[in-house]
Amino acid sequence: MRVKSVFITGASSGLGLELAKLYKSKGWRVGACARRADVLNMLKEKYGFETYAVDVVDRDQMSQAIEDFSKEGLDLVIANAGKSYEKKTRLPNFSVGRELIDINLLGVMNTFEPAVNKMLEQNHGQLAAISSIAALNGLPGVSAYSASKAAVAKLCESLGLDLARENISVTCIFPGFIDTPLTQKNPHPMPSMISVEEAANKVYEGISKKKRKVFFPFKFTMMVRILALLPRSIYAKIMSMKKFNYSLEE
Ligand SMILES: NC(=O)c1ccc[n+]([C@@H]2O[C@H](COP(=O)([O-])OP(=O)(O)OC[C@H]3O[C@@H](n4cnc5c(N)ncnc54)[C@H](OP(=O)(O)O)[C@@H]3O)[C@@H](O)[C@H]2O)c1
Repeated sequence: MRVKSVFITGASSGLGLELAKLYKSKGWRVGACARRADVLNMLKEKYGFETYAVDVVDRDQMSQAIEDFSKEGLDLVIANAGKSYEKKTRLPNFSVGRELIDINLLGVMNTFEPAVNKMLEQNHGQLAAISSIAALNGLPGVSAYSASKAAVAKLCESLGLDLARENISVTCIFPGFIDTPLTQKNPHPMPSMISVEEAANKVYEGISKKKRKVFFPFKFTMMVRILALLPRSIYAKIMSMKKFNYSLEE
């Protein structure tokens, strides 16, 4: 039987690394992509991943990497690479915002484009992207992060409709807080934070079931989904409360 293959971006740390380890432990071929070549070399040695030191913002290099990895087929691609604001400020920083859109949104498109080309050729496959619960409501201090994740969610929803007849399914993941290097920089409380191992298992389970949307942890994401249903004037009143804004820097 042919060994299944998955290409994962942002696999040098946090959720992406945990997913790469999990898929490898289940017998999959794993293509691990990130920018830091030294970290990837170490992971190649330790776990046997096939590594690609590529920036997801570089469309040509991403095409090359995915084409190279997929010569014997591509079952799944997980667009996980992402970045958030290091400083959450009261007034918007548009240059950081542009960088986040480049990585979090265009990076997903640069990952999906060559994957879809391969999947159309072989007539099967699955695309998955890591969005966030930040996609569900515009959150204070992280405008472009919320915008990039909302755009990824809609990108996945549309592609799921467009590609269903081609036997390509699309899964969008909406995690709450996960304990990774990305959140370890946050100065504010992070309710219902879960471990990276638990998060990777939830992602694996949702992808295996070919769900269109995956939310976790259940209670916290349900609360955020209910918040998204409120009239925006009530949402704005709730978010103007001191406890939601105290961590924003001037
Ligand atoms: N942690 C959370 O609470 C949480 C919640 C919701 C959603 N998410 C999403 O989950 C995903 C993974 O986040 P994480 O928490 O695991 O963060 P992380 O530990 O900071 O990992 C981010 C990964 O993305 C890679 N990366 C960043 N920019 C890249 C680029 N331009 N090209 C290629 N790789 C790039 C990084 O590797 P290099 O630096 O080596 O390139 C690293 O491997 C992100 O999309 C994030 O938005 C996280």
